[in-house]
Amino acid sequence: MQNFSYFNPTRILFGKGQIAAIAARIPAGSKVLITYGGGSIFRNGIHAQVVQALQGFEFLEFGGIEPNPRYETLMRAVELVRREQVDFILAVGGGSVADGSKFIAAAAKFDGEPWDILAKRATVNAALPLGVVLTLPATGSESNTFAVISRESTGEKLGFGSEHCYPVFAVLDPEATFSLPPRQVANGIVDAFVHTMEQYLTYPADAPLQDRFAEGILHTLIGQGPLALARPDDYTVRANIMWSATMALNGLIGCGVPQDWATHMIGHEITAEYGLDHAQTLAVVLPGVLRSQREMKREKLLQYAERIWGISAGSDAERIEAAIARTEAFFESLGVGTRLSAYEVAAAEAPVKISARLRAHGFLKLGEHGRVTPEVVESILAERV
Ligand code: NZQ
Ligand code: ZN
Repeated sequence: MQNFSYFNPTRILFGKGQIAAIAARIPAGSKVLITYGGGSIFRNGIHAQVVQALQGFEFLEFGGIEPNPRYETLMRAVELVRREQVDFILAVGGGSVADGSKFIAAAAKFDGEPWDILAKRATVNAALPLGVVLTLPATGSESNTFAVISRESTGEKLGFGSEHCYPVFAVLDPEATFSLPPRQVANGIVDAFVHTMEQYLTYPADAPLQDRFAEGILHTLIGQGPLALARPDDYTVRANIMWSATMALNGLIGCGVPQDWATHMIGHEITAEYGLDHAQTLAVVLPGVLRSQREMKREKLLQYAERIWGISAGSDAERIEAAIARTEAFFESLGVGTRLSAYEVAAAEAPVKISARLRAHGFLKLGEHGRVTPEVVESILAERV
Protein backbone atom coordinates (compact mmCIF):
# COMPACT_ATOMS: atom_id res chain seq x y z
CA MET A 1 0.00 0.00 0.00
CA GLN A 2 1.21 3.50 -0.78
CA ASN A 3 1.63 6.13 1.94
CA PHE A 4 -1.28 8.49 2.33
CA SER A 5 -2.64 11.38 4.35
CA TYR A 6 -6.40 11.21 4.81
CA PHE A 7 -8.51 14.08 6.10
CA ASN A 8 -12.20 14.63 5.55
CA PRO A 9 -13.84 17.16 7.87
CA THR A 10 -17.28 17.34 6.22
CA ARG A 11 -20.11 16.51 8.62
CA ILE A 12 -22.73 14.40 6.85
CA LEU A 13 -26.33 15.07 7.91
CA PHE A 14 -28.06 12.10 6.38
CA GLY A 15 -31.74 11.33 6.01
CA LYS A 16 -35.28 12.62 5.90
CA GLY A 17 -35.86 16.07 7.33
CA GLN A 18 -32.18 16.82 7.88
CA ILE A 19 -32.35 20.20 6.18
CA ALA A 20 -33.83 21.44 9.46
CA ALA A 21 -30.54 20.58 11.17
CA ILE A 22 -28.44 23.11 9.23
CA ALA A 23 -29.19 26.04 11.51
CA ALA A 24 -27.23 24.41 14.31
CA ARG A 25 -24.24 24.01 11.99
CA ILE A 26 -23.96 27.60 10.72
CA PRO A 27 -22.25 29.98 13.15
CA ALA A 28 -24.81 32.23 14.86
CA GLY A 29 -24.96 35.72 13.41
CA SER A 30 -23.62 34.64 10.00
CA LYS A 31 -24.84 36.42 6.90
CA VAL A 32 -25.64 33.53 4.57
CA LEU A 33 -25.66 33.43 0.77
CA ILE A 34 -27.91 30.68 -0.62
CA THR A 35 -26.62 29.60 -4.04
CA TYR A 36 -28.68 27.53 -6.45
CA GLY A 37 -29.10 26.50 -10.07
CA GLY A 38 -31.88 26.85 -12.59
CA GLY A 39 -34.80 26.64 -10.21
CA SER A 40 -35.49 22.95 -9.50
CA ILE A 41 -35.28 23.76 -5.79
CA PHE A 42 -38.39 25.94 -6.04
CA ARG A 43 -40.41 23.20 -7.75
CA ASN A 44 -39.56 20.38 -5.33
CA GLY A 45 -39.97 22.29 -2.07
CA ILE A 46 -36.30 22.22 -1.09
CA HIS A 47 -36.00 26.01 -1.23
CA ALA A 48 -38.92 26.39 1.17
CA GLN A 49 -37.32 23.91 3.59
CA VAL A 50 -34.01 25.78 3.46
CA VAL A 51 -35.65 29.16 4.07
CA GLN A 52 -37.58 27.67 6.98
CA ALA A 53 -34.37 26.27 8.45
CA LEU A 54 -32.61 29.64 8.14
CA GLN A 55 -35.16 31.57 10.22
CA GLY A 56 -33.17 33.83 12.50
CA PHE A 57 -30.30 34.23 10.01
CA GLU A 58 -29.83 37.11 7.67
CA PHE A 59 -29.60 35.61 4.18
CA LEU A 60 -29.54 36.53 0.51
CA GLU A 61 -29.74 34.43 -2.63
CA PHE A 62 -27.86 33.92 -5.86
CA GLY A 63 -29.46 31.72 -8.52
CA GLY A 64 -28.75 30.77 -12.10
CA ILE A 65 -25.63 28.64 -11.63
CA GLU A 66 -25.60 26.51 -14.77
CA PRO A 67 -24.86 22.80 -15.16
CA ASN A 68 -21.09 22.91 -15.83
CA PRO A 69 -20.95 26.14 -13.82
CA ARG A 70 -19.53 29.15 -15.59
CA TYR A 71 -16.80 31.39 -14.32
CA GLU A 72 -18.59 34.44 -15.75
CA THR A 73 -21.72 33.69 -13.70
CA LEU A 74 -19.78 32.78 -10.56
CA MET A 75 -17.80 36.02 -10.65
CA ARG A 76 -21.08 37.93 -10.31
CA ALA A 77 -21.65 36.01 -7.09
CA VAL A 78 -18.13 36.83 -5.93
CA GLU A 79 -18.93 40.53 -6.34
CA LEU A 80 -22.12 40.06 -4.34
CA VAL A 81 -20.28 38.21 -1.57
CA ARG A 82 -17.70 40.98 -1.30
CA ARG A 83 -20.22 43.81 -1.50
CA GLU A 84 -22.59 42.30 1.04
CA GLN A 85 -19.87 40.90 3.30
CA VAL A 86 -21.29 37.41 3.28
CA ASP A 87 -19.89 35.08 5.96
CA PHE A 88 -21.24 31.69 4.90
CA ILE A 89 -22.26 30.11 1.60
CA LEU A 90 -25.04 27.54 1.47
CA ALA A 91 -25.07 25.64 -1.83
CA VAL A 92 -28.43 24.05 -2.61
CA GLY A 93 -28.35 21.80 -5.66
CA GLY A 94 -26.27 19.27 -7.55
CA GLY A 95 -22.57 19.04 -8.24
CA SER A 96 -22.58 22.16 -10.40
CA VAL A 97 -23.98 24.35 -7.62
CA ALA A 98 -21.61 22.77 -5.08
CA ASP A 99 -18.60 23.21 -7.38
CA GLY A 100 -19.58 26.73 -8.34
CA SER A 101 -20.01 27.63 -4.68
CA LYS A 102 -16.55 26.28 -3.84
CA PHE A 103 -15.13 28.55 -6.51
CA ILE A 104 -17.13 31.53 -5.17
CA ALA A 105 -15.89 30.74 -1.65
CA ALA A 106 -12.26 30.58 -2.76
CA ALA A 107 -12.41 33.47 -5.25
CA ALA A 108 -13.97 35.82 -2.69
CA LYS A 109 -10.86 35.45 -0.55
CA PHE A 110 -8.37 35.32 -3.43
CA ASP A 111 -5.91 38.10 -4.00
CA GLY A 112 -5.59 38.52 -7.77
CA GLU A 113 -7.42 37.06 -10.79
CA PRO A 114 -9.44 34.07 -9.56
CA TRP A 115 -9.25 32.29 -12.94
CA ASP A 116 -5.58 31.70 -12.07
CA ILE A 117 -6.81 29.17 -9.47
CA LEU A 118 -7.88 27.05 -12.45
CA ALA A 119 -5.61 28.05 -15.31
CA LYS A 120 -2.37 28.55 -13.38
CA ARG A 121 -3.10 26.28 -10.43
CA ALA A 122 -2.63 29.24 -8.09
CA THR A 123 -2.74 28.19 -4.44
CA VAL A 124 -5.94 28.78 -2.52
CA ASN A 125 -4.95 30.03 0.92
CA ALA A 126 -8.44 30.69 2.27
CA ALA A 127 -12.12 30.28 1.45
CA LEU A 128 -15.41 31.28 2.98
CA PRO A 129 -17.07 28.45 4.92
CA LEU A 130 -19.50 26.48 2.80
CA GLY A 131 -22.37 24.08 3.48
CA VAL A 132 -24.16 21.94 0.89
CA VAL A 133 -27.75 20.74 0.63
CA LEU A 134 -27.36 18.08 -2.04
CA THR A 135 -30.17 17.39 -4.50
CA LEU A 136 -28.35 15.17 -7.01
CA PRO A 137 -26.16 12.25 -5.91
CA ALA A 138 -23.31 11.95 -8.41
CA THR A 139 -20.14 13.97 -8.04
CA GLY A 140 -19.13 13.56 -4.39
CA SER A 141 -18.54 17.34 -4.41
CA GLU A 142 -20.56 17.63 -1.20
CA SER A 143 -17.68 16.17 0.81
CA ASN A 144 -14.55 16.61 -1.26
CA THR A 145 -12.12 19.39 -2.13
CA PHE A 146 -12.68 19.52 -5.89
CA ALA A 147 -14.55 21.79 -8.27
CA VAL A 148 -14.72 21.88 -12.05
CA ILE A 149 -15.46 25.25 -13.63
CA SER A 150 -16.14 26.23 -17.24
CA ARG A 151 -15.24 29.54 -18.86
CA GLU A 152 -17.55 30.57 -21.63
CA SER A 153 -15.25 33.11 -23.23
CA THR A 154 -12.45 30.58 -23.83
CA GLY A 155 -14.46 27.35 -24.02
CA GLU A 156 -12.39 25.75 -21.26
CA LYS A 157 -13.43 23.40 -18.46
CA LEU A 158 -10.82 23.09 -15.72
CA GLY A 159 -10.66 21.73 -12.19
CA PHE A 160 -9.04 22.66 -8.91
CA GLY A 161 -8.94 21.27 -5.40
CA SER A 162 -8.22 22.80 -2.02
CA GLU A 163 -8.75 21.63 1.54
CA HIS A 164 -10.15 25.09 2.25
CA CYS A 165 -13.09 24.11 0.03
CA TYR A 166 -14.22 21.08 1.99
CA PRO A 167 -17.84 21.79 2.86
CA VAL A 168 -18.35 22.19 6.61
CA PHE A 169 -21.46 20.04 6.32
CA ALA A 170 -23.51 18.29 3.67
CA VAL A 171 -27.18 17.44 3.98
CA LEU A 172 -28.00 14.20 2.17
CA ASP A 173 -31.77 13.85 2.25
CA PRO A 174 -32.77 11.11 -0.21
CA GLU A 175 -36.21 12.73 -0.53
CA ALA A 176 -34.54 15.73 -2.18
CA THR A 177 -33.72 13.43 -5.11
CA PHE A 178 -37.28 12.22 -5.80
CA SER A 179 -37.85 15.04 -8.28
CA LEU A 180 -34.81 14.24 -10.43
CA PRO A 181 -35.53 13.49 -14.08
CA PRO A 182 -34.43 9.96 -15.13
CA ARG A 183 -31.55 11.36 -17.18
CA GLN A 184 -29.99 12.95 -14.09
CA VAL A 185 -30.59 9.86 -11.95
CA ALA A 186 -28.78 7.78 -14.56
CA ASN A 187 -26.01 10.36 -14.92
CA GLY A 188 -25.43 10.25 -11.19
CA ILE A 189 -25.15 6.47 -11.11
CA VAL A 190 -22.69 6.46 -14.01
CA ASP A 191 -20.60 9.26 -12.50
CA ALA A 192 -20.32 7.50 -9.12
CA PHE A 193 -19.53 4.21 -10.89
CA VAL A 194 -16.73 5.81 -12.90
CA HIS A 195 -15.32 7.63 -9.84
CA THR A 196 -15.01 4.24 -8.21
CA MET A 197 -13.41 2.71 -11.30
CA GLU A 198 -10.86 5.54 -11.59
CA GLN A 199 -9.55 4.59 -8.14
CA TYR A 200 -10.02 0.81 -8.36
CA LEU A 201 -9.18 -0.24 -11.87
CA THR A 202 -5.45 0.39 -12.08
CA TYR A 203 -2.98 -2.20 -10.80
CA PRO A 204 -2.81 -4.19 -7.56
CA ALA A 205 -1.40 -2.22 -4.63
CA ASP A 206 -1.81 -4.76 -1.84
CA ALA A 207 -4.82 -2.85 -0.62
CA PRO A 208 -7.58 -5.45 -0.25
CA LEU A 209 -9.70 -3.24 2.01
CA GLN A 210 -9.79 -0.43 -0.56
CA ASP A 211 -10.63 -3.02 -3.23
CA ARG A 212 -13.53 -4.32 -1.17
CA PHE A 213 -14.79 -0.80 -0.46
CA ALA A 214 -14.74 -0.07 -4.19
CA GLU A 215 -16.35 -3.40 -5.09
CA GLY A 216 -19.05 -2.75 -2.49
CA ILE A 217 -19.89 0.57 -4.13
CA LEU A 218 -19.92 -0.94 -7.63
CA HIS A 219 -22.21 -3.79 -6.52
CA THR A 220 -24.54 -1.37 -4.78
CA LEU A 221 -24.79 0.87 -7.84
CA ILE A 222 -25.37 -2.10 -10.15
CA GLY A 223 -28.07 -3.47 -7.85
CA GLN A 224 -29.81 -0.24 -6.86
CA GLY A 225 -29.31 1.79 -10.05
CA PRO A 226 -32.03 0.14 -12.12
CA LEU A 227 -34.38 0.26 -9.11
CA ALA A 228 -33.81 4.01 -8.74
CA LEU A 229 -35.12 4.46 -12.28
CA ALA A 230 -37.95 1.95 -11.92
CA ARG A 231 -39.19 3.23 -8.54
CA PRO A 232 -38.42 6.96 -8.39
CA ASP A 233 -40.00 7.47 -4.96
CA ASP A 234 -38.38 4.52 -3.20
CA TYR A 235 -36.64 6.16 -0.25
CA THR A 236 -34.41 3.21 0.57
CA VAL A 237 -33.12 2.89 -2.96
CA ARG A 238 -32.41 6.63 -3.18
CA ALA A 239 -30.68 6.50 0.21
CA ASN A 240 -28.35 3.74 -0.95
CA ILE A 241 -27.54 5.53 -4.21
CA MET A 242 -26.90 8.78 -2.37
CA TRP A 243 -24.51 7.28 0.16
CA SER A 244 -22.72 5.30 -2.55
CA ALA A 245 -22.11 8.44 -4.62
CA THR A 246 -20.69 10.30 -1.63
CA MET A 247 -18.44 7.39 -0.65
CA ALA A 248 -17.19 7.04 -4.23
CA LEU A 249 -15.40 10.39 -4.12
CA ASN A 250 -14.83 11.50 -0.55
CA GLY A 251 -11.23 10.32 -0.57
CA LEU A 252 -11.64 7.10 1.38
CA ILE A 253 -11.49 4.47 -1.34
CA GLY A 254 -8.54 6.20 -3.00
CA CYS A 255 -6.30 6.07 0.07
CA GLY A 256 -3.01 4.31 -0.61
CA VAL A 257 -3.86 3.14 -4.12
CA PRO A 258 -2.84 4.31 -7.60
CA GLN A 259 -5.47 6.37 -9.40
CA ASP A 260 -6.27 6.77 -13.07
CA TRP A 261 -8.55 9.79 -13.89
CA ALA A 262 -7.79 9.65 -17.63
CA THR A 263 -11.48 9.09 -18.38
CA HIS A 264 -12.41 12.23 -16.45
CA MET A 265 -9.76 14.42 -18.04
CA ILE A 266 -10.82 13.33 -21.53
CA GLY A 267 -14.48 13.69 -20.56
CA HIS A 268 -14.08 17.27 -19.37
CA GLU A 269 -12.66 18.22 -22.77
CA ILE A 270 -15.61 16.52 -24.51
CA THR A 271 -18.07 18.51 -22.41
CA ALA A 272 -16.17 21.72 -23.12
CA GLU A 273 -16.14 21.05 -26.88
CA TYR A 274 -19.52 19.41 -27.45
CA GLY A 275 -21.63 20.13 -24.36
CA LEU A 276 -22.36 16.53 -23.37
CA ASP A 277 -23.41 15.95 -19.76
CA HIS A 278 -20.43 14.99 -17.58
CA ALA A 279 -21.63 11.40 -17.08
CA GLN A 280 -22.38 10.96 -20.78
CA THR A 281 -18.73 11.65 -21.56
CA LEU A 282 -17.63 9.09 -18.98
CA ALA A 283 -19.93 6.40 -20.41
CA VAL A 284 -18.34 6.97 -23.82
CA VAL A 285 -14.73 7.16 -22.68
CA LEU A 286 -14.31 4.62 -19.85
CA PRO A 287 -14.83 1.49 -21.98
CA GLY A 288 -12.33 2.86 -24.50
CA VAL A 289 -9.71 3.59 -21.84
CA LEU A 290 -10.15 0.12 -20.35
CA ARG A 291 -9.75 -1.58 -23.74
CA SER A 292 -6.78 0.56 -24.71
CA GLN A 293 -5.00 -0.02 -21.39
CA ARG A 294 -6.04 -3.63 -20.92
CA GLU A 295 -2.48 -4.98 -20.74
CA MET A 296 -1.44 -2.47 -18.05
CA LYS A 297 -4.70 -3.07 -16.16
CA ARG A 298 -4.84 -6.84 -16.75
CA GLU A 299 -4.82 -8.05 -13.15
CA LYS A 300 -7.45 -5.62 -11.94
CA LEU A 301 -9.61 -6.16 -15.02
CA LEU A 302 -9.62 -9.91 -14.29
CA GLN A 303 -10.48 -9.21 -10.65
CA TYR A 304 -13.25 -6.83 -11.76
CA ALA A 305 -14.60 -9.41 -14.22
CA GLU A 306 -14.82 -12.09 -11.58
CA ARG A 307 -15.86 -10.14 -8.49
CA ILE A 308 -18.25 -7.64 -10.08
CA TRP A 309 -19.68 -9.51 -13.04
CA GLY A 310 -19.10 -13.14 -11.98
CA ILE A 311 -17.15 -13.87 -15.16
CA SER A 312 -14.78 -16.78 -14.61
CA ALA A 313 -14.90 -18.78 -17.84
CA GLY A 314 -12.75 -18.22 -20.89
CA SER A 315 -9.24 -16.97 -21.58
CA ASP A 316 -7.91 -13.84 -19.88
CA ALA A 317 -8.61 -11.81 -23.01
CA GLU A 318 -12.16 -13.14 -23.25
CA ARG A 319 -12.96 -12.42 -19.61
CA ILE A 320 -11.57 -8.91 -19.87
CA GLU A 321 -13.57 -8.16 -23.00
CA ALA A 322 -16.71 -9.63 -21.44
CA ALA A 323 -16.33 -7.42 -18.35
CA ILE A 324 -15.89 -4.28 -20.46
CA ALA A 325 -18.91 -5.26 -22.55
CA ARG A 326 -20.97 -5.77 -19.37
CA THR A 327 -19.92 -2.30 -18.21
CA GLU A 328 -21.11 -0.78 -21.48
CA ALA A 329 -24.36 -2.74 -21.29
CA PHE A 330 -24.93 -1.50 -17.73
CA PHE A 331 -24.56 2.15 -18.77
CA GLU A 332 -26.80 1.58 -21.79
CA SER A 333 -29.41 -0.14 -19.61
CA LEU A 334 -29.64 3.07 -17.57
CA GLY A 335 -30.22 5.01 -20.78
CA VAL A 336 -26.75 6.54 -20.99
CA GLY A 337 -25.31 6.06 -24.48
CA THR A 338 -21.73 4.78 -24.70
CA ARG A 339 -20.90 5.90 -28.24
CA LEU A 340 -20.24 9.38 -29.62
CA SER A 341 -22.93 8.77 -32.24
CA ALA A 342 -25.54 8.66 -29.45
CA TYR A 343 -24.83 12.37 -28.94
CA GLU A 344 -24.53 13.30 -32.60
CA VAL A 345 -20.87 14.15 -32.26
CA ALA A 346 -19.11 14.15 -35.62
CA ALA A 347 -16.92 11.07 -35.37
CA ALA A 348 -14.49 12.26 -38.03
CA GLU A 349 -13.32 15.31 -36.08
CA ALA A 350 -13.81 14.48 -32.39
CA PRO A 351 -10.70 12.34 -31.79
CA VAL A 352 -8.38 15.00 -33.27
CA LYS A 353 -10.14 17.91 -31.57
CA ILE A 354 -10.16 16.33 -28.12
CA SER A 355 -6.54 15.22 -28.24
CA ALA A 356 -5.55 18.72 -29.41
CA ARG A 357 -7.38 20.20 -26.42
CA LEU A 358 -5.54 17.91 -24.01
CA ARG A 359 -2.24 18.88 -25.64
CA ALA A 360 -3.10 22.58 -25.33
CA HIS A 361 -3.79 22.14 -21.61
CA GLY A 362 -0.57 20.21 -21.07
CA PHE A 363 -2.36 16.96 -20.20
CA LEU A 364 0.20 14.84 -22.01
CA LYS A 365 0.52 11.77 -19.79
CA LEU A 366 -2.78 10.71 -18.30
CA GLY A 367 -3.59 7.56 -16.39
CA GLU A 368 -1.86 5.75 -13.54
CA HIS A 369 1.21 5.03 -15.69
CA GLY A 370 1.14 8.25 -17.71
CA ARG A 371 0.59 6.13 -20.83
CA VAL A 372 -2.55 7.86 -22.05
CA THR A 373 -0.98 10.45 -24.31
CA PRO A 374 -2.94 12.69 -26.71
CA GLU A 375 -2.09 10.20 -29.49
CA VAL A 376 -3.56 7.36 -27.43
CA VAL A 377 -6.65 9.47 -26.71
CA GLU A 378 -7.08 9.97 -30.43
CA SER A 379 -7.05 6.22 -31.03
CA ILE A 380 -9.35 5.58 -28.05
CA LEU A 381 -11.97 8.02 -29.34
CA ALA A 382 -11.68 6.74 -32.90
CA GLU A 383 -13.05 3.45 -31.52
CA ARG A 384 -15.96 5.14 -29.72
CA VAL A 385 -17.95 6.29 -32.75
O1 NZQ B 1 -30.08 23.79 -12.00
P1 NZQ B 1 -31.29 23.11 -11.44
O2 NZQ B 1 -32.55 23.75 -11.80
O3 NZQ B 1 -31.18 22.82 -9.97
O4 NZQ B 1 -31.39 21.67 -12.20
C1 NZQ B 1 -30.35 20.71 -12.17
C2 NZQ B 1 -29.57 20.63 -13.48
O5 NZQ B 1 -30.35 21.02 -14.57
C3 NZQ B 1 -30.99 19.37 -12.08
N1 NZQ B 1 -31.30 18.96 -10.71
C4 NZQ B 1 -30.46 18.85 -9.67
N2 NZQ B 1 -31.12 18.38 -8.60
C5 NZQ B 1 -32.40 18.20 -8.97
C6 NZQ B 1 -32.54 18.58 -10.31
N3 NZQ B 1 -33.70 18.52 -10.97
C7 NZQ B 1 -34.78 18.07 -10.30
N4 NZQ B 1 -34.72 17.66 -9.01
C8 NZQ B 1 -33.55 17.71 -8.30
N5 NZQ B 1 -33.50 17.26 -7.05
O6 NZQ B 1 -30.03 18.48 -12.62
C9 NZQ B 1 -29.30 19.15 -13.65
C10 NZQ B 1 -27.83 18.79 -13.54
O7 NZQ B 1 -27.28 19.29 -12.34
P2 NZQ B 1 -25.70 19.32 -12.11
O8 NZQ B 1 -25.45 19.89 -10.78
O9 NZQ B 1 -25.03 19.94 -13.28
O10 NZQ B 1 -25.31 17.76 -12.15
P3 NZQ B 1 -24.19 16.96 -11.41
O11 NZQ B 1 -24.47 16.82 -9.96
O12 NZQ B 1 -24.03 15.72 -12.19
O13 NZQ B 1 -22.87 17.86 -11.53
C11 NZQ B 1 -22.10 17.88 -12.70
C12 NZQ B 1 -20.93 18.82 -12.53
O14 NZQ B 1 -20.03 18.36 -11.51
C13 NZQ B 1 -18.71 18.25 -12.05
C14 NZQ B 1 -18.97 17.97 -13.50
O15 NZQ B 1 -17.83 18.20 -14.30
C15 NZQ B 1 -20.11 18.90 -13.81
O16 NZQ B 1 -19.64 20.21 -14.03
N6 NZQ B 1 -17.93 17.27 -11.30
C16 NZQ B 1 -17.52 17.60 -10.06
C17 NZQ B 1 -16.73 16.76 -9.30
C18 NZQ B 1 -16.27 17.11 -7.95
N7 NZQ B 1 -16.53 18.32 -7.48
O17 NZQ B 1 -15.64 16.30 -7.28
C19 NZQ B 1 -16.28 15.47 -9.80
C20 NZQ B 1 -17.03 15.01 -11.00
O18 NZQ B 1 -16.23 14.07 -11.67
C21 NZQ B 1 -17.45 16.07 -11.95
O19 NZQ B 1 -16.38 16.45 -12.81
ZN1 ZN C 1 -17.22 12.52 -12.42
